[in-house]
Amino acid sequence: DKSGYKHFMAKEIWEQPTVLANALSAYLDGNTIDLPESLDFANTERLTLVACGTAYFACLTAKYWFETLAGIPVETDIASEFRYREPPIPAGTTALFVSQSGETADTLAALRFCRDRADRILSVVNVAESSIARESDIALPIHAGIEIGVASTKAFTCQLNVLYLLALKAAVDRGRMTPEDLAQALDDLRGLPGLFNAGLDRDVTIAEAARAVAESRDVLFLGRGLMYPLAHEGALKLKEISYIHAEAYASGELKHGPIALIDKTVPVVVMAPRDALFDKTVSNMHEVMARGGKVLLFTDAAGAAEAGADVWRTVTLPEVAPALTPLLYALPAQLLAYHAAVAKGTDVDQPRNLAKSVTVE
Ligand code: F6R
Repeated sequence: DKSGYKHFMAKEIWEQPTVLANALSAYLDGNTIDLPESLDFANTERLTLVACGTAYFACLTAKYWFETLAGIPVETDIASEFRYREPPIPAGTTALFVSQSGETADTLAALRFCRDRADRILSVVNVAESSIARESDIALPIHAGIEIGVASTKAFTCQLNVLYLLALKAAVDRGRMTPEDLAQALDDLRGLPGLFNAGLDRDVTIAEAARAVAESRDVLFLGRGLMYPLAHEGALKLKEISYIHAEAYASGELKHGPIALIDKTVPVVVMAPRDALFDKTVSNMHEVMARGGKVLLFTDAAGAAEAGADVWRTVTLPEVAPALTPLLYALPAQLLAYHAAVAKGTDVDQPRNLAKSVTVE
């Protein structure tokens, strides 16, 4: 049932404020993160995060959180590479697998490889009875509800929600976060659904930009820090459902090659909240503009004021705690892909060649 929406993807994008609020409350007991007793990170020496596709980009985001908040070294890998490379798994490693379906063949094989090698196996899944959940020591549900659109939207933000809570828990377990800082972080999380609603109000602006982007053959996505994994997710979403060629780069990599692609036919989506890295990204953005590139900027009011007037289009999002930008900025990336696909008349919910659950290699 699409509840009046034209596509399941639209329904799943728009229900994120409600779904995220529920997903969060499932893990909170006042200002305590309600996770299994045995899930302690005090002695974790290393984390290995493995997944495919969108779930992999959730892992890549989580790497930044676990490293900066909890000080745990993190490796991330794509399941299809990890499983055949059979990397050494040193003692003290916790392996964590992220999968919406819980049935992705490569992710499951990677988990089985870690079975007798890692200290413990965690998973972050949407389907609680899935193979990946069953074969984990601890399976943490994301509580996104069933996701029907092939392009993952609410599952991605709900994966981020659980991964961020895990990183906070790890920071507390390792004595790197005071109860006051934790309370603040949880308050920020509780504020997210409201910010998502405000973000959804930018839909008309994003749809207009998307109609222009839909005319392009290639699109680049740029971001730094926490916006780098999200740039990948934005590019994946666009190519999956609109069939427009899209690539993501870390902003700082631009001048190491990809800048050669820039001309006036290539829209460049720049994801840049006004954070500690903003000036760096803006300088990359100006390099793009100097070569005729059309910049679509996702930022906040402070960023929009500073970025200058020559940006092709700006989507101004509400201000959000820096750690939570990947959740909020996923929204305009999803909407951009959605509206570009609608403009092109592609099958939004059932894109060609793709299956919702990839149970074969
Ligand atoms: C992208 C998408 C895929 C999946 C990937 C992993 O929108 O849906 O990239 O994220 O196939 O699937 P799960 O999470 O079920 O393991």
